[in-house]
Amino acid sequence: MADKGGFPHYMVKEIFEQPQGLRNTIAPRVFLDEGVVRLDDVRISAEELRALRRINIVASGTSRHAGMAGQYMIQDLADLPVEVDYASEFEYRNPLIGRSELTIVITQSGETADTTAAQREARAKGSRTVAISNVEGSTIAREADGVLYTHAGPEISIASTKAFTAQMAVLFMFAVYLGQVRGKLSKEQVRSHIRELLDLPGKVEAVLGCAPDCERLADKFHRVQDFLFMGRAIHYPVAMDGALKLKEVSYVHAEGYPTGETKHGPNALIDESLPVMIIATCDRNDAGSVLRYEKSMANIKGFKQQSGRVIAIASQGDEALRKLADHTIFVPTATELLLPILEIVPLQLFAYYMAVRRGLDVDRPRNLVKSVTRE
Ligand code: BG6
Repeated sequence: MADKGGFPHYMVKEIFEQPQGLRNTIAPRVFLDEGVVRLDDVRISAEELRALRRINIVASGTSRHAGMAGQYMIQDLADLPVEVDYASEFEYRNPLIGRSELTIVITQSGETADTTAAQREARAKGSRTVAISNVEGSTIAREADGVLYTHAGPEISIASTKAFTAQMAVLFMFAVYLGQVRGKLSKEQVRSHIRELLDLPGKVEAVLGCAPDCERLADKFHRVQDFLFMGRAIHYPVAMDGALKLKEVSYVHAEGYPTGETKHGPNALIDESLPVMIIATCDRNDAGSVLRYEKSMANIKGFKQQSGRVIAIASQGDEALRKLADHTIFVPTATELLLPILEIVPLQLFAYYMAVRRGLDVDRPRNLVKSVTRE
């Protein structure tokens, strides 16, 4: 697994391994006929999960972006408040946690110093901890009460891709699991979520077909020095990770922003010199999603009036958006809480091709390491 398998770089190999990583992560935990998600490794009793008042998610880098998406999933499906923290900030804000708050630590390597320290701080305050990690037997996994492993396979490239999508799949399953344990989801609702999960790897496979489009976009934009990524609601963490990917591997300054924040700053920046990558997908079966989509369309019209250059991540078949944006990459439809796993793929590929086009060391970006094991 740990060689390049014929790909020029580990990063692109790992991007293309995402369907298999998702299958390996999802399949052992979902039981469609019974209509249940089983996460025995959580090792926290049903009544303790029912007694929880809040969940704190703590992580670094890309893993924290997964946690941001997990907040929407858990609050929506399990009706439980969630807070998300940078691991490096956690200790400074005197976290008010104890037995009634569960701490989830997310870490690909299981060795990040800040995240290890945060888990120790949580445990010292009496909070039970569940680790989501990609490395069996890692420090953070060993010190947690419960462990939910992602089975993405070894991730070599410094920029995290397949671990990120697997982390979001685990968080979605955890949200469904909590929802079923806390009596918020019926068996039929759980079956529907399981079907969506089982369809996901095939949909990611389909999105990978956009690779040539992303390569062409990188060729067109490879000289830009600044990029804005935008997304609303659960798509905001995707924008954050798209920006981080571009920064990490291509050294282009990029920011991720909630689309609704445009009027509080970014509008002063947007013109032909600052391209915008905006996620404007739409789950037509979800009235809230349609409303958010209409607002994003209005934002895009505004960017065009300011001579902004817009790359849109759109839902398959969205002709209106294709006509409005300068460039459009389509992703298949899915339930909105799982769309981030599809939407991040073109952003990963775009960052990858930008780094290649700029002649950089894609897998080993300057001044970065795969796991920061010392503060
Ligand atoms: C950074 C990596 O050093 O650490 C990122 O470059 C990663 O890809 C972050 O997201 C957190 O690492 P981990 O292993 O705790 O998820």
